[in-house]
Amino acid sequence: MKFFAFILLAMISALVSAAEPASSAISDTLEERVKPCIICHRDADLIDRDAYFPRIAGKPAGYLYNQLRNFRDGRRYYQPMAILLENMSDEYMREIADYFASLPYVYPQPVVPALSPAETKSVETLMYSGDPERDLPACSACHGEKLMGVQPAIPGLLGLPHAYLAAQFGGWRNGGIMRGQTPDCMSEIAKKLTQEEVNALVQWLPGLPVSGQLAGADALAPELAQRCRTILSGKEMAR
Ligand code: HEC
Ligand code: HEC
Repeated sequence: MKFFAFILLAMISALVSAAEPASSAISDTLEERVKPCIICHRDADLIDRDAYFPRIAGKPAGYLYNQLRNFRDGRRYYQPMAILLENMSDEYMREIADYFASLPYVYPQPVVPALSPAETKSVETLMYSGDPERDLPACSACHGEKLMGVQPAIPGLLGLPHAYLAAQFGGWRNGGIMRGQTPDCMSEIAKKLTQEEVNALVQWLPGLPVSGQLAGADALAPELAQRCRTILSGKEMAR
């Protein structure tokens, strides 16, 4: 309960700063203004491993920007964030996205997954080879060879908590819940996976240590960029 009251307070102060971005009463740096965000999106050593709150520091700027617009415009649903973002302009969100993308991050330690050798093998096949019969490209073809993401709008898959990963796949696979733009490449892929595959991969991913860098945009094959064009162009999302 104490934690909840804390969050509510933070939200109120965030609302004030979001409504008056030009106010300079205390301090007008972006760092000050995004403090309320950090209550929920903070370093891994401060949050429970299974916490639902995702890391945002160090993710690709274009991806963060798309998600902020998704929450504000009702394509992705989490009410506390929708309230915080309600009055923000695209330009201000771009600034916030650039700020968080530039921040370093202390990643959580890997958690060894409880998977059988057969399950592990099938996840590794999906990750690095895909399944041509179902028209599933390898996850690594879009998320980067090291699964650390590709500029500007494809996030990495490492260092994310199990509960968060499971919730994202729930959103993409369940027609009733939105998780961003549809149709898009990621929701199409998530719908082609079996529930067993999803259960295994959301356990397997947090087992990998975070290493490597976000890849440059040229790491994405033109065919895959074309599949994800709604997200990569951001055009559907213009207001
Ligand atoms: C009350 C807690 C809370 C606060 C405060 C909060 N967030 Fe979030 N945020 C969340 C949760 C929970 C999710 C995941 C929701 C989901 O996936 O449905 C999320 C998701 C996100 C995402 C998407 C991350 C991803 O990898 O897809 C971004 C970006 C984000 N928040 C930015 C912000 C910013 C910027 C602020 C401050 C203006 C903020 N958040 C304030 C809880 C919060
Ligand atoms: C054709 C390209 C493509 C392929 C293949 C692909 N993804 Fe994605 N993925 C994306 C894009 C683009 C996004 C960003 C979605 C958005 O902005 O709404 C994304 C987002 C994600 C996220 C959200 C991460 C976060 O921080 O919230 C996860 C998890 C994910 N993908 C897992 C996977 C897994 C696992 C596979 C393999 C089974 C896979 N993806 C294959 C393009 C792809």
